[in-house]
Amino acid sequence: MLVTVQQHILQQQEDQFPAARGNFSSLLSGMTLATKMIQAKIRRAGLVDILGSAGATNVQGETQQKLDVYANQAVLHCLGARESVAFLVSEENEQPVTIDRSEGGKYIVVFDPLDGSSNIDVNVSVGTIFSILRRPEGTHGEAAVLQPGWKQVAAGYVVYGSSTIFVYTAGQGVYGFTLEPEIGAFVLSFANMRMPVQGNTYSVNEANSDSFPESYRTYLGHLRSNGYGSRYIGSLVADFHRTLLKGGVFLYPPTKKNPNGKLRLLYEANPLAFIAEQAGGHAISGEGRIMDIAPKSIHERTPLIIGSRAEVGTFHQIHSSGRSDRTTA
Ligand code: AHG
Ligand code: MN
Ligand code: MN
Repeated sequence: MLVTVQQHILQQQEDQFPAARGNFSSLLSGMTLATKMIQAKIRRAGLVDILGSAGATNVQGETQQKLDVYANQAVLHCLGARESVAFLVSEENEQPVTIDRSEGGKYIVVFDPLDGSSNIDVNVSVGTIFSILRRPEGTHGEAAVLQPGWKQVAAGYVVYGSSTIFVYTAGQGVYGFTLEPEIGAFVLSFANMRMPVQGNTYSVNEANSDSFPESYRTYLGHLRSNGYGSRYIGSLVADFHRTLLKGGVFLYPPTKKNPNGKLRLLYEANPLAFIAEQAGGHAISGEGRIMDIAPKSIHERTPLIIGSRAEVGTFHQIHSSGRSDRTTA
């Protein structure tokens, strides 16, 4: 029997959040609706030039928008209409978008509407990432949003790949749903996902390796000499999805150009860290657990090492022994 994401969320909500009274599931269904809109647009990406008329306006006479702008508007539109939302925080908006509600929404949704957008033009997988936080009572704007990742209520992503897959956790395991295009619903395809304890690939932009800190270079050398292969798509969601299913490690280290790495804590690292830990994996910054970081600003970056327990553990050993060598020297 098919289980849709909607049925699954309602069931989880009944089991865990009996007081949530539909708010939480309505919020997640806003997210699935937005991602269905985004995937429909992405599936037509190559057709726009063929079908779009002069000046690339669509049938409603609106100017065709870049997909990351479209994706952002789709999420803002679908979630902005949900009663339980107080703030929406997007990679694409410098400040949190406040949803004006007299009685004040309960939740904050933080998201990367289109991850890996440079891959769109070449027909390579992209995604959407989101994180849901409770709004501490009486708090507003940035102060409400700047919470460590362990406070996340739920997190998830969608990968727009050879099929469209929605993966989420509400703190009770990780579940994956595949969009069934005939009926337009996400149906359960991966129940209680577990990340293998160890894998055989690493994923990093190796072209930057000359400017990685030494411990990262030592670690990559260690993986190579132990027979690891390399896989790098350049869309975090897609690289993470492979790592979740097959095991191994994904890294975005500090570089000379980006001393804190390139990835954003609130809407890239934290949600994927929550999913990784719920699936038995781990996510660290090199200084500690990703979900323990107290954020100072909404767009702050963090180095990210995420994946199987074995590989992240080995990184931690090499990295911390490198640091103690330096401090004793
Ligand atoms: P976004 O498209 O949301 O800006 O994110 C792109 C990110 C991420 O998806 C990927 O892991 C990383 O950029 C790739 O960076 P490099 O090109 O530096 O490897
Ligand atoms: Mn991104
Ligand atoms: Mn993005």
